[in-house]
Amino acid sequence: MSILSVNHLLGIKYLKPSDIDLIFKTADNFKKILNQPIKKVPSLRDISIANLFFEDSTRTKLSFELAEKRLSAEIINLSSTSSSVKKGETLLDTVNNILAMKVDIIVLRHPNPGASVFLSRNVDAKIVNAGDGTHEHPTQALLDAYSIREKFGNVNGRKVVIIGDILHSRVALSNIYCLQKLGAEVRVCGPSSLMPKHLNSLNVEHFSNLDEALEWCDIANILRIQLERQNLNYFPSLREYSMRYGINKKILDKLTNDIVIMHPGPINRGVELSSDVADSKHSIILNQVENGVAIRMAVLYLLALKKSN
Ligand code: CP
Repeated sequence: MSILSVNHLLGIKYLKPSDIDLIFKTADNFKKILNQPIKKVPSLRDISIANLFFEDSTRTKLSFELAEKRLSAEIINLSSTSSSVKKGETLLDTVNNILAMKVDIIVLRHPNPGASVFLSRNVDAKIVNAGDGTHEHPTQALLDAYSIREKFGNVNGRKVVIIGDILHSRVALSNIYCLQKLGAEVRVCGPSSLMPKHLNSLNVEHFSNLDEALEWCDIANILRIQLERQNLNYFPSLREYSMRYGINKKILDKLTNDIVIMHPGPINRGVELSSDVADSKHSIILNQVENGVAIRMAVLYLLALKKSN
């Protein structure tokens, strides 16, 4: 039986291409089940999972919860706004108290980069990173690459441009690692002020011109401007950002190629993406959301399997 090479899902950086392939093949099986009238399987009946969300989330939180329920796991949920973290309790104390209640897997979203790695080194549980600050968002990258594989048949050789706030984006970093491991060519597009300094070391080229980027790519993955992570003015105004880097139907109609539009959500409609593109036949945004459940079922199932070996 194939198993993952890792004990936790901390980031795509730590995965081998064979791990990603195994997650995709396992997700294929779960996706078939999710399309049947009875969507629940007993695979994680004896497993307890705690979802700890110390940052806002809609898609990731609900997708993990649904994945866990469809695997028949027992689940508990905690958010920073309703927890004793507000009274000064440390992350480690919080998690050790939860683990004393016999929990097997922790799903963690946290504003601090490295929070999941820190937990994995200090507690006795499987850790799944559901987004850690500006660092990584591995399940998002897996579901993004899986959606590209579903649309095109494979990821290898595809040209993907990630557009927007690369500097503050964990989705961008995880996507770069994931797509490159699967043989895609990845470039980025946006204002230079929103590009990380280490872009060259990631082997990623930068387009400052949106039209050139869109002409080059098969797939454009559009990111939101993450104002909550910006304490400086990286561009004059959202309106000016939108005029240079916002994608609308008029721009797509001028292209000589037919491209696929992706977005991890939440969308700021009218800023990075217009509604006539977000809701068009170019968009696979809701397919990404749908695939998130099967991908998260696969990740949790494979990690739980690893534990019993
Ligand atoms: N894509 C994503 O992480 O969305 P949420 O912040 O809503 O979970």
